[in-house]
Amino acid sequence: MIKINENFLKLPESYLFSEVASRISKFREKNPGADIIRMDIGDVTLPLPETVINAMHKAVDDLATTERFRGYGPEQGYLFLREAIAENDYRQRGLGITPDEIFVSDGAKSDLGNLGDILGDNIKVAVADPGYPVYADSTVLRGLGGELKSGRWSRIEYLECNAENGFKPSLPEECPDLIYLCSPANPTGVALTKDDLRKWVEYARANKILIVYDSAYESYVVHPFTARSIYEIDGADEIAIEVRSFSKTAGFTGVRCGYTVVPHRLKGTDGVSGKEVELNKLWNRRQSTKFNGASYISQRAAESIYSSEGKEEIKRNVAYYLGNASVIRESLRRVGFETWGGEDSPYIWARKKGYDDSWQLFTELLERCHISCTPGSGFGSAGEGFIRLTGFNSLKNTREAMNRIINEKI
Ligand code: MLT
Repeated sequence: MIKINENFLKLPESYLFSEVASRISKFREKNPGADIIRMDIGDVTLPLPETVINAMHKAVDDLATTERFRGYGPEQGYLFLREAIAENDYRQRGLGITPDEIFVSDGAKSDLGNLGDILGDNIKVAVADPGYPVYADSTVLRGLGGELKSGRWSRIEYLECNAENGFKPSLPEECPDLIYLCSPANPTGVALTKDDLRKWVEYARANKILIVYDSAYESYVVHPFTARSIYEIDGADEIAIEVRSFSKTAGFTGVRCGYTVVPHRLKGTDGVSGKEVELNKLWNRRQSTKFNGASYISQRAAESIYSSEGKEEIKRNVAYYLGNASVIRESLRRVGFETWGGEDSPYIWARKKGYDDSWQLFTELLERCHISCTPGSGFGSAGEGFIRLTGFNSLKNTREAMNRIINEKI
């Protein structure tokens, strides 16, 4: 008998973005001429910056020569990239993260889903609601979700984000072992200030809780009081793992590259001997066993964004998407939507009086305006009644989409 991981059967049959994509393609089949403007999944649309393209061409040429050919790379990522990350994303911002605390990945999603491998098999997990579905889904797959009741897993603690608390999660009531925190947040686009984050770090230190800090959208931060890295807060290196991605920073959704920081000072306890163990060592072991590294070409591409030209180009692209986000925010507000996010983030979180059901608003936008969004309820039960729109389309399409909403009087 082939025995399966029954936890897969507990999850809804399809992942949120697969469900959205499937509804869009069904609509397309029935309406072949419809010019659908995609504002659902956070997928970039601008071509890769020239610096990145040049670096990739050069990397391909390397692979074509006997002298510069590379086969398997280090599972932790090439040192050239880990040094560039440590220098530019941390040391130059006054943060002491070292290359051997950085693990290059093929993007944030895989690491967010896999980090549970190095944690105890009876831990209690807390997630923001609404939140990126990978946190709860991967917890369920480890058998740590309990039962699904009214859209929530019984063993997961939900940190409700709502209009009253400005979509900033409050500290947990029960003391979990692991908290997934995302800022600027997916899906709400709300970002934590350094003062907000200090409160989380102090709480986690006092209660010995691990924070997995998803900062995939840090390059969208423009306000000086908004945190970009959790390590900006003193003592965070004793309680936090930070997960980042080049997807939204540099347009790598198709190229695939990101990284995870596991500081040496971060230690867990062996439940049998009571001995303290560095999580860095465990993650290194996990990656060496289950991962063969991101491709050489992707890593050379990622390295190039830290050159002065690369930095300028990605800054321009991020500013472009932020400009679109501001068009969406302002336009929706003009027609009576309430909105959040879209300032330190490419995501706009919105609701309109009269629409209590996220999928209903999704369907109306699709059928009447030919615009796709992500229904807020897909991010958790507290997201019901909301939708998420992204600033990742072109400015032309963004303006067109907003005109359609205005003209259709949604
Ligand atoms: C999103 O739209 O939430 C993200 O693009 C999904 C992802 O990064 O996996």
